[in-house]
Amino acid sequence: MSDVELRIEDDPAGAVAHELARAAGEGGNVAVSGGSSPRPAYERAAALAPDWSRIDLWWADDRCVPAHDPRSNYRLVRETLLDGLSRPPAVHRVRGELAPDEAAAAYDQEIRGVRLDLALLGIGPDGHTASLFPGSHALEEAERAAVAAGAGLEPFVPRVTLTVPMLSAARFVVFLVTGEDKAVAVARAFEGEPDPATPASLVRSAEGRTVAVLDAAAASRLELK
Ligand code: 6PG
Repeated sequence: MSDVELRIEDDPAGAVAHELARAAGEGGNVAVSGGSSPRPAYERAAALAPDWSRIDLWWADDRCVPAHDPRSNYRLVRETLLDGLSRPPAVHRVRGELAPDEAAAAYDQEIRGVRLDLALLGIGPDGHTASLFPGSHALEEAERAAVAAGAGLEPFVPRVTLTVPMLSAARFVVFLVTGEDKAVAVARAFEGEPDPATPASLVRSAEGRTVAVLDAAAASRLELK
């Protein structure tokens, strides 16, 4: 039995766009992720809810590159979500142009004390989520909200990531995962024991809801017991 609500959707990006649009209407603190899966969700959320003025927007993780760099998660979200809004949120980006430790310290200070209302996360084929990679030191962090982290996958640039306790304090954790290459990681994350070898298995909303929005391919190795 999973502690996560598993939703297998024909249109996972559309389902997540609705969750983002609802969050924008309610107001509060929202953390978003990079990667390819959320792109259409951001575009569609902007069309559904162009007013994000009641939101403080954060990043679950970012790469330590300047804001205009094509590898920047900030840039991805700006192009797909922020540029399409009539009323923008308050934007709290990771200052990726700084050295990783400096960027992480600044971000940690800015987000400390915040409780996320929604954290949108992805999962990589290796089971990582945000920039929490299998077996990394960042997984052991118990105090800080944000830390510097190495890269476990392409692009191999240092990262800044929210930590397991910060993400697990969110009232609503939403994983968006698509594609057959994620199927084994999805099964480990949602039907296996919590395990640092699969960081996504460690992130659950402690007091709220955790939902995984999957396409059929990503869900194909779940036993769905
Ligand atoms: C990043 C992300 C990362 C992402 C997963 C899934 O910086 O790349 O925040 O954690 O969510 O790698 O990415 P895809 O959606 O591309 O599969």
